[in-house]
Amino acid sequence: MDRYAVFGNPIKQSRSPEIHALFADQCAQQMQYRAVRVELDAFAATARSFFEGGGAGLNVTVPFKREAFEFAGRLSPRAQRAGAVNTLSRAPDGAIEGDNTDGVGLLRDLVVNLGWQVRDQRVLVLGAGGATRGVLEPLLLERPRELLVANRTPARAADLAGEFADLGPLQGGGLDLLGQRQFDLIVNATSAGLAGELPELPATLLAERACCYDMVYGTQPTAFMRWAAHHAAWAVADGLGMLVEQAAESFYIWRRVRPDTGPVIQSLRESLAA
Ligand code: ATR
Repeated sequence: MDRYAVFGNPIKQSRSPEIHALFADQCAQQMQYRAVRVELDAFAATARSFFEGGGAGLNVTVPFKREAFEFAGRLSPRAQRAGAVNTLSRAPDGAIEGDNTDGVGLLRDLVVNLGWQVRDQRVLVLGAGGATRGVLEPLLLERPRELLVANRTPARAADLAGEFADLGPLQGGGLDLLGQRQFDLIVNATSAGLAGELPELPATLLAERACCYDMVYGTQPTAFMRWAAHHAAWAVADGLGMLVEQAAESFYIWRRVRPDTGPVIQSLRESLAA
């Protein structure tokens, strides 16, 4: 039976085994998928022995996505651009290929599942870490009217804007840039919510019919989602759909079968609420 795993640290919270088990069941794929907590200094050695032992593919989560990028023998163009890898697979010629499915996962959730528009919209991304880097290319490919990356540390956002500016109308800087500006779509890509925190946001930030998306999720609405609801956002969503969509894209890379994500998102939502 083909063996897959997700490597991370911590890993207890990972829903990936559950998601891939549901996909495998739905698509009648014989495969095994488990979660592995890898010591912080042992990513490359553990990944190497996994593949040498016949492993077929890996998902990689925090904090190893950059190391997975270095580890891969070959990179997809989108992984190259993201500077991070969340999916590793063994190619027929034996090379280990690195890909990144986070960006496409976000876009599928936004555009297909939620029916939100990116094209021609004023888009704001909060945060300028790895999560933001992974989604800038697919966001810009949707041709927003403008895309602003605003971050607590302005230089990180400015650096990202410089790096991706060839792909579209991108600007980056500090939260002070938010001033009197308004946005139709706001994506929170900071890790602040994990600590129940929120960057300081002006009350005037939301355009009429603004959509607010938090890339994280939990049993309760995040601080950013509560802020958005309080400021009368037209629609608010968490990152559970993105999680399932990035997993579906990894599953497709490995198995060449595309699972139906709707029932899986629903099942996870129910188990989260239980
Ligand atoms: P990730 O890979 O999840 O993006 P990261 O690279 O550590 O993680 O980036 C975390 C992001 O969340 C950064 O943009 C960080 O802002 P700084 O660059 O100023 O550190 C942002 N962030 C984390 N905690 C925050 C908080 N309490 N308020 C505002 N931004 C915060």
